Formats: sequence, structure tokens, C-alpha cells
Amino acid sequence: GKVRAPTHIISTISDDRGEEPCYAGVPMSSIVEQGLGVGDVISLLWFKRSLPRYCTQFIEICVMLCADHGPCVSGAHNTIVTARAGKDLVSCLVSGLLTIGPRFGGAVDDAARYFKDAYDRNLTPYEFVESMKKKGIRVPGIGHRIKRGDNRDKRVELLQLFARTHFPSTKYMEYAVEVETYTLSKANNLVLNVDGAIGSLFLDLLAGSGMFTKPEIDEIVEIGYLNGLFVLARSIGLIGHTFDQKRLKQPLYRHPWEDVLYTK
Ligand code: ACO
Ligand code: LMR
Repeated sequence: GKVRAPTHIISTISDDRGEEPCYAGVPMSSIVEQGLGVGDVISLLWFKRSLPRYCTQFIEICVMLCADHGPCVSGAHNTIVTARAGKDLVSCLVSGLLTIGPRFGGAVDDAARYFKDAYDRNLTPYEFVESMKKKGIRVPGIGHRIKRGDNRDKRVELLQLFARTHFPSTKYMEYAVEVETYTLSKANNLVLNVDGAIGSLFLDLLAGSGMFTKPEIDEIVEIGYLNGLFVLARSIGLIGHTFDQKRLKQPLYRHPWEDVLYTK
């Protein structure tokens, strides 16, 4: 019989060899004809399956709500400075993206990991938060530079409302809210932030949709798919900031001396 030469690459999410490209086996024409959206495309290319409408809608809401958060946040600031240094679109975009990490926008996966572990081990919010404190780890998904207990993040409220209306269960998110109630009793800025809301709600989506086995959920959480949502979403805003600066013909940025404490 024929012996297949070993390949250098294995790929399982898309195929462009036929008459039309397929995402996870679904032809492009079918995606267009069914009127599917970017949430469906993310489901196919990231999770390799079609997800129910409420799940793809949730993914799209995450992308829309995280697309931008003004010019002052870490990512947009970097992008703006880079655009003003005369760099090209890709450089401006990646310079903003590179700020996404454990403090800014990239706490979604760790929030999912820690909330899942604490919930699955039946830890009370007190036990969870205090054990994190003992380990010297800030609770991912909790805390914000400007949001407060009396000035909640509208994005978090919108995600919670959607999930409470459409998800079969919101047990992980409700646990995150209990954690927030405890952390707010310690300090007013320790709110459930948008990373924490997406992280906990995605656990609910994965567990409640019936579309994923337990080992698949564990793998998704372990590999860390969820920061991808923030990265994807914020790229929209960072590209917008690049165009904005170029349209405004802004000069090279130089930070004012008065705003630096020069000290020995
Ligand atoms: N868990 C426990 N305690 C916290 C947390 C937290 N997540 N955040 C702040 N604190 C407490 C700590 O006691 C901290 O003191 P420390 O520096 O000794 O640890 C104290 O509050 C003051 O912290 P600040 O650094 O002044 O808080 P800041 O406003 O700078 O931090 C930040 C905001 C970076 C978001 C922080 O809350 C944090 O690291 N959160 C976890 C990571 C996270 O979820 N990031 C995503 C934010 S949302 C977004 O970027 C889209
Ligand atoms: C964001 O979405 O960029 C913010 O929540 C972060 C910030 O500092 O406001």
C-alpha cells in the first residue's frame, strides 16, 4: 500500500484545499447563507464546533464591550505614542497589544482558573480570598483603577444581565459576585472587573451549554483561550486609535518633564 510521508505540520481547524475554504468543516458559503456572525466563526475556529445562538451572541457581546475603553488605558496609550512616532499600523497595533497581561486585560484566563478551582473545591469567598492573600497573589478578575463599589463597570453589568437572562446556569459568575462582595468589604476599588466577569461567565458557558466534556473544559482553561477574547476585541479599538492619530496628524509624543519625578 501507499506510505504517507510524515508531514511537518498538523492542522485541524480550517481547510482551504477544496472549492471553498471550510472552518471546522463548515463551508464559507454555508456560513454566509445562514447569516452567521463573528461569534460563530470564533466558535468554529477556536472551539472547533458550532455553538448555540446564545453562546455566540455572548462571545459577540464580549468582543463589542471590550473593543475600546478610551485613550488613557495602557494599550491605547502605547498605540497612540507609537502612531505619533510615525510607525505603521501593525507596529501601532502590537505595541498596544503588548501591554495586555496580568494587570491589564489579560487576567481573564487566570480569573477563570482561580474561580473554577475555588468553586469546585467549595471554598467560601473568605477562604478563597484569604488563601490568595497568604500566597501573595492578587485575585485575578478583581480590582480596577477607576471603577468602584459605588461606580460599577457597566460592561460587567451588561454581561451579567445577558447571562442571567440566557444562560442555563450562572453558578461560577454568582460565586465571583460573592467573592466581590467580600473584597468590597475590604476596599471600595476591589470590584469584579470585566476580565473577571468574562472569565467566570465563560466557565458557565462551557459548563452549561452541554457542548463540552469535562476534560475539554479543563483543557480550554489550562491552555488559556479566554485572554484571546480581550486581545481580539481590543485590536478593534487599537486599530481605531492608530487611524485617529494619523488622521489628526499628531506630532511625535514627548512626555512633559513636569510629569516626571526626577530623583536619586
Ligand atoms: N486582589 C486582592 N487585593 C487587591 C487586588 C486584587 N485583585 N487588587 C488590588 N488589591 C489590593 C492590594 O492590597 C493592593 O496592595 P498591594 O500593592 O500590596 O498588593 C491594594 O489593593 C492597592 O492596589 P493598587 O495597586 O493601588 O490597585 P490598582 O488600582 O493599581 O490596581 C489592578 C488595579 C491592577 C487592576 C489590580 O486590582 C489587580 O492587579 N487586579 C487583578 C488583575 C486584574 O484583574 N486585572 C484586570 C483589570 S480589568 C482590565 O484591565 C480590562
Ligand atoms: C479597559 O478595558 O481597558 C479598562 O478596564 C482598563 C482601565 O484602566 O480602565
